[in-house]
Amino acid sequence: MTTLIINIKELLQVRDSSILKVSGAEMAVLPTIKNAYLVLKNGLISDFGSMEDLPNINPEKCIDADGKIVLPSWCDSHTHIVYAGNREQEFVDRINGLTYEEIANRGGGILNSAKKLNETSEEEIYQQSKTRLEEVMHLGTGAVEIKSGYGLTVDGELKMLRVIQRLAQNYPVTIKATFLGAHAFPSEYATNHKGYIDLIINEMLPEIAENKLADFIDVFCETGYFTVEETQKIIEAGIKFGLKPKIHVNQFNSIGGIQTGIKHNALSVDHLEVMKPEDIEALKNTETMPVALPSCSYFLSIPYTPARVMIAAGLPLALATDYNPGSTPSGNMNFVVATACIKMKMTPEEAINAATINGAYAMGISETHGSITIGKKANLIITKPIPSYYQIPYAFGSNLIETVLLEGKIFA
Ligand code: NIG
Ligand code: FE
Repeated sequence: MTTLIINIKELLQVRDSSILKVSGAEMAVLPTIKNAYLVLKNGLISDFGSMEDLPNINPEKCIDADGKIVLPSWCDSHTHIVYAGNREQEFVDRINGLTYEEIANRGGGILNSAKKLNETSEEEIYQQSKTRLEEVMHLGTGAVEIKSGYGLTVDGELKMLRVIQRLAQNYPVTIKATFLGAHAFPSEYATNHKGYIDLIINEMLPEIAENKLADFIDVFCETGYFTVEETQKIIEAGIKFGLKPKIHVNQFNSIGGIQTGIKHNALSVDHLEVMKPEDIEALKNTETMPVALPSCSYFLSIPYTPARVMIAAGLPLALATDYNPGSTPSGNMNFVVATACIKMKMTPEEAINAATINGAYAMGISETHGSITIGKKANLIITKPIPSYYQIPYAFGSNLIETVLLEGKIFA
C-alpha cells in the first residue's frame, strides 16, 4: 500500500538515520523541507523531498496537505495510562489545601490507585485504559511507554502488564512496557521494606521476564518511597532479567537517584523538577536521556525541570506526559510541548525535538521512530492549515491536528 502526501507546507524533523537524539545547542535546530512531498509504503516512510522533485508514481492513496504541516507523531516516553478509576477527590482536596505528600501519607495517592486496581477486573481495566489510549492517539501520539505500578501485588502487577500487552496487540501505536512494582510500599510492607523488595525480585521479576511482559524496569526513587540503596538493588535485579532501567528521580528531592541511574546505564531518568548542579554535571557525556514532565509540574504546582540550564550544559532533553490518575490526568503531548515553551522557556524547535526524536530515544526506539527518515515508521501528524509550526505551542488550547497516520494508515 503506497500513500503520497503532496503540497506539504512544511515537513518537520527531517533527519538522517544516524541521528538518534539531539543535545545542547543542536536542540535548537529543527530541519525541515518547505513545499514538500512524502511517500509512505507498507507502513514505512519510503521517500520525501521538495515538490519540485515530485517523482512520477501511482499511489493507492493521495493526500493533499496544502497549507498544512506534517511532522512525526509524538513519542510519549513516560505514562501510567493503565489504571482503574480516578483520583478526582484528591484533586479537590489539594484545591482545598492538602499537599500531594499529605494525601499520600494518609493512604491516598498511589496506594489509593492500587486499592482500586486490585478490586477491578482485568477486562474492566483494559476497557478504561483503551479509552485513554485512543484519546492520546487522536492527539497525535504514535509511540507510548506505559508503566505498571498500581498493582503492588504479584497479581496486580501482572494484570497491569497483561493489559499493556493486550493494548500493544490491538492498536497500531507502538507500545513499550515498563515494570514499576517499586512505585510505593504497600501498607502491609510499610515497616518491612525488605519483604516487599524480595517480593519484587523473587516473585514478580521472574514471572514478568518469563512471559516477556516488560521492556524496562522503573523505581520511584524519592524520600518516603524507595531509597537510593533500594533503587539500586531493584534495578540491578531488573538488569539481570534483561530489563533496562528508566527511573523516577528528583521529583521532590535530589537524593542521588540520577547518579544511580547513570551508574546502571539507565535509558532515561525522569521528572527532574529538583536539580542540583552535581545532578546536571553527572548527566554530561552519558547515554542516559533526561526526561521532563511539565504537565505534572503544572497539575501539582511544583517546579518545572530547569530546561534552559540543562540545555546550556549541553544535555539532551525529552518531554513526556506522565499521564496518570494522581499527578497528571492528561496525556496531551500538544499541551506538553506548549507548556515546555511557555513555562520552561524551550523554543518551539527544542520542544518538538524533545517530544519526537529524544522521546523516541528515551524508550529505545529512535532507530524506527521520532523523525522523518527513510525506513522509519510512517507514524505522522498532519495539522490543519496553520501559518507556521509556532502555532503548536502558541495556540496552546486548540487542537491543531487534522489527521493522524499510524503505520501509514489514517487512524480514525
Ligand atoms: O510520575 N511520581 C511517581 N509516580 C507518578 C504519580 C503517581 C500517582 O500519584 O499516582 C508520577 O508522577
Ligand atoms: Fe511517572
